[in-house]
Amino acid sequence: MPVSVVILAAGQGKRMNSDLPKVLQPLAGRPLLQHVIDTARSLEPESIYVVYGFGGDAVQAALGTASVKWVLQSEQLGTGHAVTQAIPAIPAEHTVLVLCGDVPMIQAATLQRLLDVSQASGGLALLTLEIPDPTGYGRIIRDAGGGVIAIIEHRDASPAQRQVTEINTGVMAAPAELLRGWLLKVGRNNDQREYLLTDVVGIAAQAGTRVDAVAASGAAEVLGVNDKVQLAQVEANYRQQRARELMMAGATLADPARIDIRGTVSVGRDVFIDINAVLIGNVNLASGVKVGPNCLIVESHIGAGTEIHANSIVDHAVVGEDCRIGPFARLRPDTVLQADVHIGNFVELKNAQIGAHSKANHLTYVGDATVGSGVNIGAGTITCNYDGANKWPTVIEDGVFVGSGSMLVAPVRIGASSTIGAGSTITASTPQGQLSLERSKQVSVDTWKRPRKYTDAEKQDIVDEALKK
Ligand code: UD1
Ligand code: CA
Repeated sequence: MPVSVVILAAGQGKRMNSDLPKVLQPLAGRPLLQHVIDTARSLEPESIYVVYGFGGDAVQAALGTASVKWVLQSEQLGTGHAVTQAIPAIPAEHTVLVLCGDVPMIQAATLQRLLDVSQASGGLALLTLEIPDPTGYGRIIRDAGGGVIAIIEHRDASPAQRQVTEINTGVMAAPAELLRGWLLKVGRNNDQREYLLTDVVGIAAQAGTRVDAVAASGAAEVLGVNDKVQLAQVEANYRQQRARELMMAGATLADPARIDIRGTVSVGRDVFIDINAVLIGNVNLASGVKVGPNCLIVESHIGAGTEIHANSIVDHAVVGEDCRIGPFARLRPDTVLQADVHIGNFVELKNAQIGAHSKANHLTYVGDATVGSGVNIGAGTITCNYDGANKWPTVIEDGVFVGSGSMLVAPVRIGASSTIGAGSTITASTPQGQLSLERSKQVSVDTWKRPRKYTDAEKQDIVDEALKK
């Protein structure tokens, strides 16, 4: 049976106290709403409708590429009113799955179970959960026989109803035709003067339609995000889940509570990750990779056997096998390292392709450069790629030895197997196999005397003389 998903995302989220609409608040670096859309899409529904309203331009701009159908709710008159905006577009024979843009951790398998129940019964299926502290959530009200007869919002609930610990997760599934009819009957006779989606439960039950409560798999997946405290809770849950997945895949984490995963990380066998690693986006760590403490890895592939030492940053880079990176190295976007490359402390690479067995071990900048294999780049070498207006390339061919403290002024080519003498400023391409150096001649001055200590008055005279215009 075809499914239409409706995601409610029009609310402001007053409790966030933020200029950013609630559904754009980031979880693991992506908007809450993006998580819900991605989960919905994995169910392969016929359509996904996103009801938007508050901060609409920002919401659409942030998720513009998501292929969803946008439905405007120009006034936020409640969750029932929100679904009413989408329902005319949904064919009568569809099953409608209602999701909340602020319940981001909901699992596809749970939603599938809910859909199966609604589709089997032809009635309403609610996702509910028993939780120890139900404060703030709508309560599931059952009759003496255990049948669900209503949902009462926390603020509308009597003291006795507030004792109920089974809560509404905000997620439900129902045949479109029936849902349309129930919504017509929803009034706004409640504390908030809103059209509450939850009222359809009582209406359906009274009409004799079957209402089933389906239990969610746990509190983590149904936690609603209404304020920054709950946002931090879901972030912690997300972190925990990803850390667990990595460990189940065979990675050793020095401390699973001190790793931050904001994306999709895949690992080979016997990967080790020390504390305070932050992994963002798609990160792939091949077998045997070791990540030292305090490393940031963004959208990168790290080849088998490579070690990244403490305090290094790898951003949009491809690192080959058996490389040594850091400590304190920074690989910026479009850096590609072949196998067995050593990038040491305080070395910055940007848009640099480095051949196998090459080394830049200390205090170096290599940008917009193509470096061959077996190259040794001495400490303090800089590719001067920027003339103040343009960026220029540097080519360093196989087997080159660049002496320490060299400035390679791009565009420039350093010929294969050549040597650059330490301290040179190289402004013209160099021939293969030769020593190129650029230095003023060293002199020694035998008449020179060390300065003596001057009086304040003497010093003043010297300064006045030196600074006069
Ligand atoms: C809602 C449920 C409550 C449930 C809880 C679970 C209702 C009336 N209450 O309460 O039973 O326990 O979720 O997290 O449904 N929205 C709109 N348009 C509106 C109002 C809200 O699109 O006019 C959207 C919000 O952006 C949000 C979602 O609907 O994504 C839920 O609204 P919210 O105000 O957060 O409802 P809760 O008080 O959390
Ligand atoms: Ca909510």
